[in-house]
Amino acid sequence: MNSVFQGKSLLAEKDFTKEELIYLIDFAAHLKDMKKQNISHRYLEGKNIALLFEKASTRTRAAFTTAAIDLGAHPEYLGKGDIQLGKKESVEDTAKVLGSMFDGIEYRGFSQEAVEALAEYSGVPVWNGLTDQWHPTQMLADFLTVKEQFGKIEGLTLAYAGDGRNNVANSLLITGAILGVNTHIVTPKELFPDAKLVDLANEYAEKSGAKILITADIDEGVKGADVLYTDVWVSMGEEAEFKKRIDLLLPYQVNQAMVDKTGKADTIFLHCLPAFHDVQTEVAQEIKDTYGLSEMEVTDEVFRAPYAHQFEQAENRMHTIKAVMAATLGNLFIPTV
Ligand code: CP
Ligand code: NVA
Repeated sequence: MNSVFQGKSLLAEKDFTKEELIYLIDFAAHLKDMKKQNISHRYLEGKNIALLFEKASTRTRAAFTTAAIDLGAHPEYLGKGDIQLGKKESVEDTAKVLGSMFDGIEYRGFSQEAVEALAEYSGVPVWNGLTDQWHPTQMLADFLTVKEQFGKIEGLTLAYAGDGRNNVANSLLITGAILGVNTHIVTPKELFPDAKLVDLANEYAEKSGAKILITADIDEGVKGADVLYTDVWVSMGEEAEFKKRIDLLLPYQVNQAMVDKTGKADTIFLHCLPAFHDVQTEVAQEIKDTYGLSEMEVTDEVFRAPYAHQFEQAENRMHTIKAVMAATLGNLFIPTV
């Protein structure tokens, strides 16, 4: 019997049920355990995996690469500039070629339409490694980290402070609503998520019991948060926006005062990374020289606090991506979820 996951692509969280998402998170925890105990789990022996990256990546690339190798598969990195995609060859034609040689394809790029077209025309599972709209593999790692910290997911409150309309915010809003997590997007009015997305989140929330809050009011937004989450103020492809975003988002910086406003003793901090918490990078130094700011979406104090779990979250990218690849490509025996 084929599992419900076999042959399926992961393009956006909304294509999966709550039970399926929870299955993948729990399966990732199991695979993590196996890895720590050096137990072999080569479910994809002999498979070839294409890793398409139109945008830069550390975690997603490293996670897909190491996860594929652990599973016995061969990952092949096809970066922007290495292949014809977009310049001399359409997504459709590229998908047909890659689908005839590879057993699964990861894609990170700009348009959601591109990852959907890859899935449509390649005939193999396609995994969205981030588009302008969604970051679904990130969500599995995030909620695995939440489960590790709290022993549960449902009923918790997650407040995301920062750019309220980027891929990570969109994905948290929908995934939180599906999973029954009270999800607060705390952001200035100018950066409120798309109204259609909020409607969709509310539809899921009605079923799951989650409470959705979109607010510019920091006190109201972070109150009661078990998880305080942020992401960069300027996403890949939006580099011209720094000045505008700094002006809008500086009050929404995650600092100790904001953490204290949750009113909770055991709030954790999460960040998908990379983060601007100091001036140890070229871009951060440029921002400091231009705007006099040495920390952006999160202060170094919070980033280095004992309640900050962004590096466990980063490690969990690998275990969760491994779960997705194994479940969708490994012919596993998963009779029900
Ligand atoms: N969080 C995340 O996707 O990191 P990378 O951009 O390094 O892949
Ligand atoms: N919102 C960020 C996420 C990076 C993992 C970006 O798209 O650049």
